Amino acid sequence: MDDQKVNPELLAQLNKLQEKYDVMGQDLSSYLDGLLYADYLTYWDYIHLDTLLSLQSPKTRFPDEHIFIIYHQITELYFRLVILELEQITAKEKPDEKFFTERLDRVNRYFNHLENSFDIMVRGMERDQFLKFRMSLLPASGFQSAQYRVIEFYATDVMNLVAEKDRQHIADPKNVDQVVGHLYWRSGATELATGKKTLTLQQFEKKYLNEFRELSLSLTSRNLYQLYKKHFEGNQNVIDRLRQFDTLANVLWPLAHMKSAAHYLEKDPEDIKATGGTNWQKYLPPRFQRIIFFPELWSEQEKAEWGKAAFIRK
Ligand code: HEM
Repeated sequence: MDDQKVNPELLAQLNKLQEKYDVMGQDLSSYLDGLLYADYLTYWDYIHLDTLLSLQSPKTRFPDEHIFIIYHQITELYFRLVILELEQITAKEKPDEKFFTERLDRVNRYFNHLENSFDIMVRGMERDQFLKFRMSLLPASGFQSAQYRVIEFYATDVMNLVAEKDRQHIADPKNVDQVVGHLYWRSGATELATGKKTLTLQQFEKKYLNEFRELSLSLTSRNLYQLYKKHFEGNQNVIDRLRQFDTLANVLWPLAHMKSAAHYLEKDPEDIKATGGTNWQKYLPPRFQRIIFFPELWSEQEKAEWGKAAFIRK
């Protein structure tokens, strides 16, 4: 190519590239060779479409099991999006209001989608198929979603993840092991008949409890609730978004989710087998757990009505 005809903008770009590679002691020309031989990027490679579509391994031949798997995967991807935002917010020494509120809007948008799409589980599968294929999946359960727990640790003080009635048993609230010992979900997935931990819960604790302990420790002074108290106390824009997040994560999503349990499992005593015979009726309703990420942002009446019809109508 004749130098005279080379577009000056292209030359300027080449100079910039040369500078970039010189800094690292790299030979630009070799990298340009690489560019010459490299394939063009395709959509399917970029998003790993074939891998993505190969990640469903049903345990039965019931076609609706695909829906069950894919919807769980979709939910986990949304949880991942939520955590990406929470990681960014909590990594900042002092987040400004614009950043904080915009990121919370993203989190709330994701949770809104999850709440609105739960119908796919409630009405989008044949009940007869569900009750059969679900038996092949025991003791696995969405209860074992680690990302769901991670979101909780990012949101609030670990003490707020202990059911109110159990807080009196914690002698030293600063002792993370004591608090983690009473996390509310550790009394979920227990056997209805005996009160014993199911295998579902035992396996989950074995795999993740140490990780959760470390995460909660690392977030002691920089979870969302702490950031609110340090930097945004009384700021209505922030309060509105945090209240929305609390409502979505601790009332609306749990209620949408609970509808699926009620739809599939409640009809006759046989159905309860599909959970392995757990205490889910006492555990899942948000009005029983009353987990609230940001208790200072709610009135006493709102807290008393948490998860009840009066609260939801507001
Ligand atoms: C037909 C659909 C579903 C049914 C019948 C169902 C049923 C249940 C039941 C009975 C529990 C209580 C734990 C137990 O007793 O074993 C539970 C917990 C849970 N499930 Fe599901 N589930 C469904 C879909 C999903 C989906 C799509 C997700 C998404 C990841 C999910 C995530 C969870 C989570 C995070 C918990 C723990 C909730 C908490 O601790 O408050 N579930 N589920």
